[in-house]
Amino acid sequence: MKNHFSRVGFILAAAGSAVGLGNIWKFPYVTGEYGGGAFVLVYLLAILFIGLTVFLAEAVIGQNAQSDVATSFIKTSKSKNQNWKFAGFIIFSGLIVLSFYSVVLGWILNYVFTSFGTLPSDSKAAGSAFETLISKDIASQIIYHTVIAGSVIFIVLKGIKRGIEKINLILMPLLGLILLGLLFYSFTLDSFSTALNFMFYPDWSKIDSNALLAALGQAFFTLSLGVGAIMTYSASLPKNANFVKSSIIVAIVDTAIAITAGLIIFSFLFEAGAQSSAGPGLVFISLPVIFSGWGVLGQVISISFFVALVFAGITSAVSMIEPSLKFFIERFNFTRKKATILCGSIFYILGIIALLSMTIAFKDSLTFFGKNAFDWMDFMTSSVMMPLAAILTCVFLGYFVDKELLRRIFTAHVSLTVFNIWYFLIKFIVPIAIITLFLNKLGII
Ligand code: PFF
Repeated sequence: MKNHFSRVGFILAAAGSAVGLGNIWKFPYVTGEYGGGAFVLVYLLAILFIGLTVFLAEAVIGQNAQSDVATSFIKTSKSKNQNWKFAGFIIFSGLIVLSFYSVVLGWILNYVFTSFGTLPSDSKAAGSAFETLISKDIASQIIYHTVIAGSVIFIVLKGIKRGIEKINLILMPLLGLILLGLLFYSFTLDSFSTALNFMFYPDWSKIDSNALLAALGQAFFTLSLGVGAIMTYSASLPKNANFVKSSIIVAIVDTAIAITAGLIIFSFLFEAGAQSSAGPGLVFISLPVIFSGWGVLGQVISISFFVALVFAGITSAVSMIEPSLKFFIERFNFTRKKATILCGSIFYILGIIALLSMTIAFKDSLTFFGKNAFDWMDFMTSSVMMPLAAILTCVFLGYFVDKELLRRIFTAHVSLTVFNIWYFLIKFIVPIAIITLFLNKLGII
């Protein structure tokens, strides 16, 4: 089919979208902050009952309509009301997330290069190296952001089949190999069993409502939900392909990689006697110090680790821009090139604003109501637009789409019972869970 994924191509691309900084950087540090095992268990439940349910929701809409996000809402709705096109707003969160995601990927690229030289040997030096990079080194940050943005633009210019499918076909297996190598190395460390214990022995005392909501938020982010990415990729999935099986495989791969990354990182941390609760700096500050203590082997591990992060991030980044490209191509008849130039420039410039807003020189002029531009972009997407999009998707399917149609599509692949469970979750349980998350993030409850 013209510019469609093969089924394996779809699974790889959707897994490539799902597996990203959320798995290798964020999941371990959030797990560390909430004390390990119990959080992992709650997270697994959130993936199974909420994340996978919404993933299937986006997949069914996309595959059925085979269009851009706005048109997909119109086509799938019972009324075919053109106003459903406004639901298409969700694609813009992808562009905003991409702006600062590209900046963070740039920092990681910087770590790949510094790994070839001398890594900082104590956490004070590591902390100040990181601090200097983000608050003073404007030139390097712009260069790295430009390299990442340029790569993303280069890949998506080539389209679904020759760009996105191909890059995932190359990078995902490489990512898997690097992570396996690192996992084998961590097996040889005495602290591997401590890491296993930490991640799988539940300490319920650390679980409160914040932990539950963090697990839920993480489940959404890691499965790339709420920006139309999965909907857009599914629109290029052949209509007869089994989207349920593919979705389950993607959720399993994503979870397996998050757990693997956690085991690797915690083995390293415990081996060095470092804190598991270091927060966002865990990967940027704690790990380099550990690697530096391991000599040349440490350098090799450091390079591999940060390269793996770049690979994981690039395959996620391309999925953030694709919904907007498809929107302009299909609804406004843009050529792919024109759409890419427009959307590429938007996220590139927003990225520059985001990175400048954290530097000493521009902080003051780019801080609004107590938050800098970087934090605003993060807050507006992960706390406002993405949860709203997820609520909208559930309410749409539960109340504005013909149930018969959904039943027919699902039961071509699964039993009626499975469909009924999914439908019940999407109509009642998931919206309540996300509304709770949403109100909490806004500080209302
Ligand atoms: N799932 C990605 C991660 O875990 O890093 C993040 C992400 C990718 C979010 C694509 C949204 C998206 F559309």
